Amino acid sequence: PYSKEFADYIWPGMVVNPEKILSLNDMQLGPDDVVIASYPKSGTTWASEVLSAIAHDGDTEMLSRIRMDERVLWLELDDKAWWIKFFYIWKNKIFSNSATNAVPKKRICFTHLPLELLPPSILEGKCKLLYVARNPKDQAVSFFHFHRMARFLGMQTHTSWNEFFPLFCSGFLYCGSWFEHVLAYWKFTQNNPQAKFICYEDMKRDLMAEMESLEQFVGVPLSMEQRVKVVKHCSFDSMKDNKMANRDGVMLFNEKISKFMRKGIVGDWKNYFTVAQSEAFDELYQEKMTGTGLHFEFE
Ligand code: A3P
Repeated sequence: PYSKEFADYIWPGMVVNPEKILSLNDMQLGPDDVVIASYPKSGTTWASEVLSAIAHDGDTEMLSRIRMDERVLWLELDDKAWWIKFFYIWKNKIFSNSATNAVPKKRICFTHLPLELLPPSILEGKCKLLYVARNPKDQAVSFFHFHRMARFLGMQTHTSWNEFFPLFCSGFLYCGSWFEHVLAYWKFTQNNPQAKFICYEDMKRDLMAEMESLEQFVGVPLSMEQRVKVVKHCSFDSMKDNKMANRDGVMLFNEKISKFMRKGIVGDWKNYFTVAQSEAFDELYQEKMTGTGLHFEFE
């Protein structure tokens, strides 16, 4: 059940199936929808919480009563993965203090699909698209830990970083090559008023400023007071301890191996990459990124 091939990509068949991806072609998204796209481990959940807070007018108390899994849906999650949905409902009953029916100003969902597989209504600009990217060295380290703990990816928990590194460079893994994923979206978002490209490192440096530009992008301005509250609510320490801001911690992940909210820093790659790996990656990075106009911060 772990891997299925479709459109030259490998999919975690337990949760993402080609039939579901194909069925998204009929999905009608509109001006009140915002889709967050990313290569996994780039800060999707963080951006989701920020946007969800904006969409709920900065009402962080309400956010803390409704699970993230219900506020920000995973677009390509297989409908047949009924066990996950059942589990969400059950867990919500236990953890939620009477979930409210508050309607957000924007509907938010997220996807890891490569650009070419997005539903046409997104590509045609019928809704807003936010792409979140992270420097690929930190992303690779986070993805390595994620592969060990995400049950649906089927990698052995004892797989080492040295075994994972060449896999990441080859792009022969879930979501394919980081370079292709990011660069396709980078091109798409340029001079496109319906799309925006943001970086994890920018959110890390100044979340308040990123929030302001996100508010403008989706057309839901907050007051300074609301903004201050949301920035606090979306700090790493606060999200780490907030069950409602975390993705599912039991069914999909084995958090005894590694936490979903693991470290949340820039520069952790230095604790993993050897000098030789760093140099080899830098060479690959130069080859793929030169002339694209896209730059990342690595520390
Ligand atoms: P690390 O594994 O480096 O800690 P995604 O949501 O795309 O799967 O990304 C997960 C990564 O974002 C993890 O990185 C996680 O810790 C980090 N993250 C999540 N919330 C964060 C926050 N509020 N501040 C900083 N990093 C955060």
